[in-house]
Amino acid sequence: MSNLLATENVTKKFGGLAAVNDVSITVKQHTFTMLIGPNGCGKTTLINCCTGILKPTEGRVLLGDTDITGWPTHKIYEVGFVRTFQIPLPFLGLTVLDNVLGAMRNSGEAPLKAPHRRLWLKEEENNMERAMAVLHRVRLDKHWNKPSHTLGAAQLKMLEVAKGLAAGAKLIALDEPIGGVDPASADEILSHVSALKNEGLTFLVVEHRIDIAAPYADYIYAMDLGRLISQGTPQQVLGDPKVIEVYLGKGATEAC
Ligand SMILES: Nc1ncnc2c1ncn2[C@@H]1O[C@H](COP(=O)(O)OP(=O)(O)O)[C@@H](O)[C@H]1O
Ligand SMILES: [Mg+2]
Repeated sequence: MSNLLATENVTKKFGGLAAVNDVSITVKQHTFTMLIGPNGCGKTTLINCCTGILKPTEGRVLLGDTDITGWPTHKIYEVGFVRTFQIPLPFLGLTVLDNVLGAMRNSGEAPLKAPHRRLWLKEEENNMERAMAVLHRVRLDKHWNKPSHTLGAAQLKMLEVAKGLAAGAKLIALDEPIGGVDPASADEILSHVSALKNEGLTFLVVEHRIDIAAPYADYIYAMDLGRLISQGTPQQVLGDPKVIEVYLGKGATEAC
């Protein structure tokens, strides 16, 4: 399996603090790769360095063979790497369908083409069909006409995934997709994500709640204080004394 994403010795400093310190990870194609670690350990900062929100202080980020280090977010988005945020950011006043349509390109928005309706009408119809197909994939098709603010927490997260799919993403980074949702909804989100992985997408999932999310992961990286402390299969990482210590506190390894 080839690497879709790789960070090579990425460091990000904020003043004197290295929020991410010399981290190298790879995300293989068609996997659900998970990044875990306690609050403040640098997970979001690493994702931000990968998706152009932050520029690494040191190191490189590769998407396939392309060095995307320091590229602006929109350019990384255009080459198929999309991220969602810890707090979903849909346009809450718009319907579910309009949110997905908004994530697609439509040449009717070009100023010279906009007045010539027949030039873009067909494209708009195609986009509508594509948007409904995307909503079907994330099980939101029945809700297409609802204002987004009426969706539940799990559905809002899936709407963010739908926007990524509509934008043509091949790699989607999800920052705490099950944060703030109840365990049943969390399982629903993660099983939808797993189904999309089986359809050929690749996910890098940042999660704090490892008990619920780990069983879905193919490979896990664990961080603490900006550094990578463990990696492997869920069984290997969750059984690693260093990880147990970070999550349950010193002494827990002896207690286990
Ligand atoms: N923009 C920023 N400026 C300064 N410090 C930051 C900034 N973003 C994050 N940090 C700090 O970097 C560390 C890692 O944060 P973060 O990546 O958000 O952790 P996580 O996502 O694992 O909870 C924390 O100590 C946080 O306070
Ligand atoms: Mg975070």
